[in-house]
Amino acid sequence: MTSFVVEPVTRVLSGRVEVPGDKSIGHRSLLFGGLCAGEVEVSGLSGGQDNTRTRVAMEAMGVRVVDRGPGRVTISGVGVDGLRAARGAIDCGNSGTSMRLLCGLLGGQRFDSRLFGDESLTRRPMRRVTEPLRSMGAVIDGVSRADRPGEVYPPLVVRGARGPLAGIDVELAVASAQVKSAILLAGLYADGPVRVREPGPSRDHTERMLAELGAPIATAGEGSVTLDPVGWDRRLSAAAIQVPGDPSSAAFLVAAALVAGASGFALARVCLNPTRTGFLDAVDEMGAGVRRALAATGPGEPIGDLVIDAPAGGAALRATSVGGSLVVRAIDELPVLSVLAARADGTTTIADAGELRVKESDRLATTCAMLRAFGVEVEELADGLVIHGQPGGRLRAAHIDSHGDHRIAMSATIAALVADGPSRIEDTDNVATSYPGFARALNQLAGGQVVSEVG
Ligand code: S3P
Repeated sequence: MTSFVVEPVTRVLSGRVEVPGDKSIGHRSLLFGGLCAGEVEVSGLSGGQDNTRTRVAMEAMGVRVVDRGPGRVTISGVGVDGLRAARGAIDCGNSGTSMRLLCGLLGGQRFDSRLFGDESLTRRPMRRVTEPLRSMGAVIDGVSRADRPGEVYPPLVVRGARGPLAGIDVELAVASAQVKSAILLAGLYADGPVRVREPGPSRDHTERMLAELGAPIATAGEGSVTLDPVGWDRRLSAAAIQVPGDPSSAAFLVAAALVAGASGFALARVCLNPTRTGFLDAVDEMGAGVRRALAATGPGEPIGDLVIDAPAGGAALRATSVGGSLVVRAIDELPVLSVLAARADGTTTIADAGELRVKESDRLATTCAMLRAFGVEVEELADGLVIHGQPGGRLRAAHIDSHGDHRIAMSATIAALVADGPSRIEDTDNVATSYPGFARALNQLAGGQVVSEVG
């Protein structure tokens, strides 16, 4: 198990780096690319372990994926109806997105499949996907737990469907791109329309990419999407998919620049899809001044650079409040936003974020414990956090248990940059699930070794 030893940063950050490819779009490129008719060139993949889980799952079901260089693969798609049964159970590792999206894809196949994951994934609730998929006619069995009646946990067994699935019109209680995507994927194997409505706009990469590939999908305003397979020729096709940089990974470097100061600092080709820019909107609110230079549109995705200038010692930040649909658009960035709140003037409140309790760790509890270890005054609410900021000064150097959660490990690393001595972050292996090269990128921008990975 690896750890990070983090030294306080002594210079402002500078340089231009590309963050690795977006994890969410990477999963979708591998899944949908495998369903295309013919070859698809994908570039910009992060090489993160979560995406690799999806790739290996598709390979196990007969999709050929050939490496063409860093982040580049050629996928030989087998067509929407061309998958075959994997030989053994599919290991989703730490990746909730792999497991939930695969559930949707497998629910409509004619063969049985088994899905399992690591210890963290085994604790994550799956009823949110199994329930709507079951009402479409999919047969999915999971594990129940006496302390959580009615909930379903991995491992999951997805039984082969006897015929097409049924259409569905479903209103999700909680906005979730994973659930929406699982239902839309199952919709490719339905004999009637599938409509998903959400209380807020979750990330829409599935809709954008399926539309690019020619699927019969249409959005009707924010938070409503329909896939109608009736009369469709069952063909998905594309020549190439470019995966833009991951805004969730960029958020850690943005936060580093804001706490340490930055000059000549830029993050290149970041996905600026509005369903993913909640963190940037929140830091705008805090007065941070991150410039978004919109450059191009990739596979239906807006892309641009993030440019930051901030004085040595960090940008002057003011407290903010985060709730409602902003939470959905910043869900993965809330731990690192909490680190910025700890450096802001005033009290920041994060509400409506109960979903954080069922991520790779209980992120309300783990973020709270992490901030407290750095000497920050923070209260844990049922669905949020109250963070009392201390602008200026240094945090207390800390020894942090990341609980195997990549985003807690990286958030703690950012806090440690402005601590009063070296900090140690334990259990950092899973940083590679989303951001391989995180420590290297930070060291490059800091102009020296601030993060060391130790055995
Ligand atoms: C993801 C959706 C989000 C997010 C996760 C990736 C996706 O989860 O937290 O990291 O790629 O669809 P929910 O759909 O559970 O909110």
